[in-house]
Amino acid sequence: MKPSTFSALAAVILLVVTQHASVAAGRGPRVIIVGAGMSGISAGKRLADAGVRDVLILEATGRVGGRMHKHNFGGINVEIGANWVEGVEGKKVNPIWPMVNATLNLRNFLSDFDSVVSNVYKEKREWDRADEVEELGGKLASQMDPSGRDDISILAMQRLFNHQPNGPTTPVDMALDYFRYDYEFAEPPRATSLQNTEPLPTAADFGEDNHFVADQRGFEAIIYHIARQYLSSDRKSGNIVDPRLKLNKVVREISYNRKGVVVRTEDNSAYSGDYVIVSTSLGVLQSDLIQFKPQLPAWKIIAIYRFDMAVYTKIFLKFPTKFWPVGEGKQFFVYASSRRGYYGMWQSFEKEYPGANVLMVTVTDQESRRIEQQPDNQTKAEAVAVLRKMFPDRHVPDATDIYVPRWWSDRFFKGSYSNWPIGVNRYEYDQLRAPVGRVFFTGEHTSEHYNGYVHGAYLAGMDSADILMNSIFNKVGFKVRPKDDHQIIAEAK
Ligand SMILES: Cc1cc2nc3c(=O)[nH]c(=O)nc-3n(C[C@H](O)[C@H](O)[C@H](O)COP(=O)(O)OP(=O)(O)OC[C@H]3O[C@@H](n4cnc5c(N)ncnc54)[C@H](O)[C@@H]3O)c2cc1C
Ligand SMILES: *[C@@H]1O[C@H](CO)[C@@H](O)[C@H](O)[C@H]1NC(C)=O
Ligand SMILES: *[C@@H]1O[C@H](CO)[C@@H](O)[C@H](O)[C@H]1NC(C)=O
Repeated sequence: MKPSTFSALAAVILLVVTQHASVAAGRGPRVIIVGAGMSGISAGKRLADAGVRDVLILEATGRVGGRMHKHNFGGINVEIGANWVEGVEGKKVNPIWPMVNATLNLRNFLSDFDSVVSNVYKEKREWDRADEVEELGGKLASQMDPSGRDDISILAMQRLFNHQPNGPTTPVDMALDYFRYDYEFAEPPRATSLQNTEPLPTAADFGEDNHFVADQRGFEAIIYHIARQYLSSDRKSGNIVDPRLKLNKVVREISYNRKGVVVRTEDNSAYSGDYVIVSTSLGVLQSDLIQFKPQLPAWKIIAIYRFDMAVYTKIFLKFPTKFWPVGEGKQFFVYASSRRGYYGMWQSFEKEYPGANVLMVTVTDQESRRIEQQPDNQTKAEAVAVLRKMFPDRHVPDATDIYVPRWWSDRFFKGSYSNWPIGVNRYEYDQLRAPVGRVFFTGEHTSEHYNGYVHGAYLAGMDSADILMNSIFNKVGFKVRPKDDHQIIAEAK
C-alpha cells in the first residue's frame, strides 16, 4: 500500500483532534492493542489492573483467542493451535498451569513421550547415542560465552559429537531426531540455535512434564477467563461484549509521531490513541499486512526479519474403525520414512476421547507448506497410505474425514510460532521486543525466555504492558542490553 497524501493529512488532523479530546476529558492514556490473542488480552489485563482502563483492542478475526483455537471435528472439539501446557512439575510454577488445572479445571492428560522410542514402525535402533549427543550439546552450550557469539546450530553440535556430516540419516534415526527437535521447534536442527534451546528455559524453569489439554471448552477458555476479569461479558453465552473489544477489525496502517498514534483498519475506520501495542505474530510483522508510518527503523526491521516464524501443523483424521494399538505407552507412535519429516509423529486419542476414532499426525516446516498448498483429499490419501505401510497386517480403512489447519497461508498468522534461529543473540532479541516511539510490541516472539509458548505469550503481554507504563509514568525507556553484557545475561540464566 502506497501512502496517499490524503490519508497522511487525515492522520495528522485526527492526531490533533484526539490530543485535544484527551486533554479535555482529563483521562489517562488511551492504549490501542492490536490483536486479541493471549498476549494482547494479557497486556490489556495488566494495564487495567494498573488503572489504565482506556484500552481499545482491535482484532482482525471474528473471535478472541488467536493461536489458541478449538475446532469441532468428528463430533469432538480438537485444538488446532496450542494443545499442551508445556513445562509442569518443575522448580517454578508455569503461570498457565493453575488456570488450567485448578481455576478452570480443564481436562488434561500427562503425555508419555518416554514410550515413543518403543513405538517406531518399522525397524528399531539404539536411542541412547542420541541422548548422549544431546547431553554433550547441553554441556557445550553451558560453556559458551553468554553474549551468544559462540552459538552454533543443533546440527553443527551433532556433527561435532557424532561425526555425521548430515546428522542422523537412517529412517529410524531421522524419525527420532525429528521427534526430539522438529516436533518441538517446528524447524530442523540445521536452523535452530543450540545455546538458546539447550537447556530449554521452559523445561529448565517449569519442568519436563507436558500436559495435553482435551476439554470441550477448549484451551482458549483460559484467554476468556483472563479477558472476563476486565472486559464485560454476556452472562449467558460468556461472550465478551465490551465495547473496548472490536472484532473483525483488520489493522492495515499504524501512524505514529511524538504526540500519538492513529490506527487504520481495512474497513476504513481510524482509531486514535496515545500508544499502540502490536501483538500480531512475528509472521504477520514479517509480511506487509500492517504499514507503519513512518516506516520502522532499520534495526527494528532487521531484527524482525532475522528471527524465524516456524510452521507446525496438526492434521486430524477420522476413521470408521480403530486399527492402531492402544493401551499404556501406545498413544504416540512414529513412522520412520526415508523422507525426513514425512507424516512422522502420530497420536491417538483413546484416552482423551474413547471411541472417537480420531488420529492426529504432525508435520512441520517444508512438509507443512507443501500440504497447505494441496487439496485435502491428496493429504488424506498420503496419510492413509502411510498408515497402511505402518500396519501392513491390519485392515486400514479410508479416513472418513480430515482437517488440515493452514496457519502458514493465513494472513493473520503466517505460521505457528517463533523459533530461535542460529545467528540471533540476546542483543537482536531485545531489539525485537523494543518499542519504537509510541509503538510497543508484544506476542510470544517477544517473551523474555519462553518464545513459542502460551505461557510465553501470557508473560510477554504483562511485560510489554509494564514496559509501556514504565515509559509513561516513570519515564524509563526500554534498554536493549549491550552485545557483550555478560552480567545481565548470566543473571537471566
Ligand atoms: C499449531 C500450533 C501449536 C501450538 N502448540 C502449542 C502448545 O502445545 N503449547 C504451547 O504452549 N504453545 C503452543 N503454540 C503456541 C501458542 O499458541 C502461541 O505462542 C500463543 O497462543 C501466541 O499468542 P500471541 O498473543 O502471541 O499471538 P496470537 O495468538 O497470534 O494473537 C495475535 C492476534 O492478532 C490478530 N491479528 C493478526 N493480524 C492482525 C491485524 N492486522 N489486525 C488486527 N488483529 C490482527 C490475530 O488474529 C490474533 O488473534 C502452538 C501454536 C500453534 C499455531
Ligand atoms: C491437577 O489437579 C488434580 C485435581 O485437582 C490434582 O490431583 C493433581 O495433582 C494436579 N496436578 C498437578 C501436576 O499439579
Ligand atoms: C481429489 O479430488 C479431486 C477433485 O474432486 C480429484 O480430481 C482428485 O483425483 C482427488 N485426488 C485424490 C488423491 O483422491
